[in-house]
Amino acid sequence: MPSPEPGRDCPLCPRLVEYRRANARAEPSWFNGAVPSFGDEGARVLIVGLAPGRTGANRTGRPFTGDWAGDLLYPTLARYGLSAGRFDPDGRDDLRLTGAMITNAVRCAPPQNKPVGEEMAHCRPFLAARIAALARLEVIITLGRIAHDNTLKALGLKPSAFAFGHGARHDLDGPRGTLIMFNSYHCSRYNTNTGRLTEAMFHAVFEQACAALARA
Ligand code: URA
Repeated sequence: MPSPEPGRDCPLCPRLVEYRRANARAEPSWFNGAVPSFGDEGARVLIVGLAPGRTGANRTGRPFTGDWAGDLLYPTLARYGLSAGRFDPDGRDDLRLTGAMITNAVRCAPPQNKPVGEEMAHCRPFLAARIAALARLEVIITLGRIAHDNTLKALGLKPSAFAFGHGARHDLDGPRGTLIMFNSYHCSRYNTNTGRLTEAMFHAVFEQACAALARA
């Protein structure tokens, strides 16, 4: 099993390396690397996103930070007691996650926010290692279908056996006991602007996740 975090200059995906280098040439002050997971190593809840946004996590070096991406996620974590401190959309803050961690299925920013299958496959061992390293993990919240599929594959499970749906709960039995996975639509600006995902719908998923934790 590799380390749960790829090196900042991870060389595994030629297209993403090329994109990273182009971004670094254009914006040398940005992070421009594989974005590490953010949160608590004692996390009971893991949130899995898609991939860093070019001007967001790829700029600041923190998942869901630096563009619109965290505007719904971070206040929701605070609401459910999964963070402490102040969230600044640009990452200039003292925010800490408490009992939670955020990671991405793909750690490097992909062109058009669309990783290809080979890139997901290259990055999946890091997701598997990330999950394995969280000894207290009980609940995984996947944001969008790509996170859902990659999390299942990282756990050695078949995505076709677990239908993705907003609010769906999947009990995943494995060698370390049962991990409970909840699906949410991705909290992207597109989904929130079009009303596909409302704040109430997003909160409902965290409500279920926290209730599952409280019972565990
Ligand atoms: N930023 C991230 O880090 N992940 C996403 O899925 C979207 C934006």
